[in-house]
Amino acid sequence: MLHIQQNVSLKNFNTFGIDVSAKYFVEINRAEELIELFMDPQWTQMERLVLGGGSNVLFRKDFAGLVIHMNIHGIDYRINNQQVLVVAGAGEIWNDLVNYCVDNGFAGMENLSLIPGSVGASPVQNIGAYGVELKDIFLSCNAFEIATGEFKTFSKADCQFDYRDSIFKNDMKGHYIIVSVKFELSLVQNLRLNYGAIKDELANRGITNPTIKDVSKVVSHIRVSKLPDPSTIGNAGSFFKNPVIPKDEFDIVREHYPDVVNYATADGYVKLAAGWLIEQCGWKGKVVGNTGTWHNQALVLVNHGGATGREVYNLSSQIIDSVYSKFGVTLEREVNVIN
Ligand code: FAD
Ligand code: EPU
Repeated sequence: MLHIQQNVSLKNFNTFGIDVSAKYFVEINRAEELIELFMDPQWTQMERLVLGGGSNVLFRKDFAGLVIHMNIHGIDYRINNQQVLVVAGAGEIWNDLVNYCVDNGFAGMENLSLIPGSVGASPVQNIGAYGVELKDIFLSCNAFEIATGEFKTFSKADCQFDYRDSIFKNDMKGHYIIVSVKFELSLVQNLRLNYGAIKDELANRGITNPTIKDVSKVVSHIRVSKLPDPSTIGNAGSFFKNPVIPKDEFDIVREHYPDVVNYATADGYVKLAAGWLIEQCGWKGKVVGNTGTWHNQALVLVNHGGATGREVYNLSSQIIDSVYSKFGVTLEREVNVIN
């Protein structure tokens, strides 16, 4: 029997630690409970928010609708020669899955160690870090369609993955609830060590022949050194995406700022380091009321304690304005701003 709670605090359900509440709140422990939930038409008509770990959301006020907290667990795998197919429930903690795979020698996820959040959210923004994106190991996901009450499988092509983007943030936003994700890993390691910081840290440790466990440890170490721990200081990781701009626009920026940190991408576009742009505008480590940017990573906005979602949002707007005035580049929020 589903237990729908009322007026539930969301403070511990968002890593920014914003003190808001949800009018209605339900925890989903099994996929079939979604069928049961949506048999009652009031929930199909009401504003809804699917929540995993709340590590990529910013609440600006109390949520007046139904929060659906995904808590479906379970990890299963099948080995075919060297290929490993792993299926995990949406409510599994992403890093628990990574550790499970690394401990079992299943290669492919190690660069994605220590990313907060749930398995179910991982396809939504095609999580990525240190040269690997979810799409590189994703096979399919199973999702509940609210309008029909049916489950549908999305292949990799169906998901339309892009940099911090997928169909679940666009055309299918709010229409589907991901209940499980299937990954394609391997018993043979194929390490991706292109990121300078990974190479440097392996060298520091004197590791010349790394295993996936070494890479996982090194990535975790780099992350801890740069990013604030949400359990002690509220944040949602990178607040903005790194802007991707056409080469001719980039040439104008570089003419004025020859040091601009950039990476070439496909099709003549250039990705800029948003953290660098924000730092150049003088925001790095700045404290504004209860909010600010992280002293080691200007791309991360933080809650120094007691911040409201509106304060964080206003700071993000000021940052967008100043980066635009200085560089003519528009930053786009990565974090999902709710209401
Ligand atoms: P939530 O915040 O709960 O939800 C995020 C979005 O997904 C919402 O729109 C929500 O409605 C939707 N959603 C959640 N679950 C489901 C579901 N089952 N079905 C359908 N929609 C769903 N991200 C990276 O990509 N790379 C990083 O390196 C990275 N580093 C981070 C570091 C820190 C310290 C923090 C706090 C965050 C970081 N993030 C990073 C962002 C975050 O970890 C990811 O976006 C993660 O996938 C969010 O998972 P979640 O379960 O917390 O999602
Ligand atoms: N930089 C600065 N000042 C700063 C921050 C960064 O100058 O304050 C410059 C540095 O030159 C640095 C470069 O920006 O070399 C890139 O910085 P970093 O390696 O920290 O990565 P990022 O581009 O800021 C991205 C992702 C992270 C991911 C890391 C590692 C986005 C929006 N962010 O950050 O993802 O963990 O790369 O791959 O793409 C997230 O999405 O929440 C997230 C944390």
